[in-house]
Amino acid sequence: MQWKKVLSTMKPYKPGRSTEEVKKAYRLDKVVKLASNENPYGCASTVAEFLSGTTMPFEIYPDGHGTTLRAKLAEKHDVDESSILFGNGSDEIISIISRAILDEKVHTIMPTPSFPQYAHNAKIEGAEITEIPLKDEHHDLNDFIGAINDRTAIIWVCNPNNPTGSLIPNDELESFLERVPENILVVLDEAYYEYVTDPDHADSIALIDRFPNIIVLRTFSKAYGLASFRIGYAVGSSVIITELNKVRNPFNNNTLAVAVASKALEDDAFIDMCRKLNAAQRERYKTFASEKRIHMFDSETNFVLMEVPGDADGASEFLLKHGYIVRSGNALGTPGYVRITIGTEEQNTGLLQAFTLLLQEKGR
Ligand SMILES: Cc1ncc(COP(=O)(O)O)c(C=O)c1O
Repeated sequence: MQWKKVLSTMKPYKPGRSTEEVKKAYRLDKVVKLASNENPYGCASTVAEFLSGTTMPFEIYPDGHGTTLRAKLAEKHDVDESSILFGNGSDEIISIISRAILDEKVHTIMPTPSFPQYAHNAKIEGAEITEIPLKDEHHDLNDFIGAINDRTAIIWVCNPNNPTGSLIPNDELESFLERVPENILVVLDEAYYEYVTDPDHADSIALIDRFPNIIVLRTFSKAYGLASFRIGYAVGSSVIITELNKVRNPFNNNTLAVAVASKALEDDAFIDMCRKLNAAQRERYKTFASEKRIHMFDSETNFVLMEVPGDADGASEFLLKHGYIVRSGNALGTPGYVRITIGTEEQNTGLLQAFTLLLQEKGR
C-alpha cells in the first residue's frame, strides 16, 4: 500500500477506558467516568421524551441540508441559513476545514497544549505546523501574530481551551483578529461555549460581519448532552461555508441526530440549568485546590485541570482504583496534572474524597 508517509509517525485515536472495563478490572460495583467532558445531567428531558415516542423513515437518506435544524440555528444566532455548516461532531468540521485548505505548501498555527485534532488533521494534510505554547495559562496571541508568514492559511483558537479551560478575554480576541491578514482563516473552536460564565467573553458569531475570515465551531456534544449523536456546526460567512460544503460528505449527519439536536434547541432552560450547576460545582474544585494548596487552572468549562502529586499516570490509576476515570495530563501535554470532568454534586464529592486519599498517600 502507498500510505501517506506521515501515517508511519502517527497512532490511531485511543479512547479512554469504558466504565464496564474498569468495573471488571478493579472489581468495582460503581465507576464514574469524568474523562471526556460529557454532560453528567444527560440531555433535556424533552429530548428523551421525544426519542421514546419517535418513528422515522430510516430507509430514506437523511436530509443532507438539515433544513429544520438549520432554520432554528439561523434564528437563534441571527444569521443567514447559508452561514451554517453541519458536521458529524465538530471533529468532522475540523477535518473538513483541514481538507479544504491545508496541503504541503501551507502553514498553520495553533496553541499547545490544546485540542489535538487541529495538529492531527494538519499533519495528515502535510501542512507545516507552528504550535504556540500557552503563556500564563492562556493563548499567547501576540506570538500567534509573530508566527504568521506568507504561507499561513489557518490559525486555530480554542476558546475556552481544552485541556486548560482558560478563556480569552473579548478585547484581546478582537485586537488579535484586527491584526490577522484577511486571507487567513481563523477557526474559533467554542465547544464549551455554553458553560462560560465570565461576562468578558466574545460574542464571536456577532464578530463575523466585522471579521469575515473567522469561522465559529459549536457542538451538541457537551452542554446539550448529545455526544453519542455526533453533531456539531460551524457558523461563518456564506462564502467560506460554500467552499467547505464542497468537501463535506453529502449525508454526514443522520436523520435521528438532526431531529434530536433540533428538539434540544427548544430547551434553553436545560442549558441554563447545566451552566449554573456546573459553575457551582466548579467552585467546589477551586475551593478544594486552594485549601489543599494544589494548582488548578482557572476554568470556564465543564472540566478542570488539576495538579497531582507525582506522576499523572500514577494519580489517574489511583483514582481509577477508587472508581473515578479521569484523563492523565501525560496524554494531554500537561504532565503533573489530571483533567477531571465536572460531574454532579454526588460524583464530585466522591472524586474529591478519592483525591484527598491520593494526597494523603503522597504525604501532602
Ligand atoms: C475543544 C474541542 N473541540 C472539539 C471537540 C469535538 O467535539 P465533537 O466532535 O463531539 O463535537 C472537542 C471534544 O472534546 C473539544 O474539546
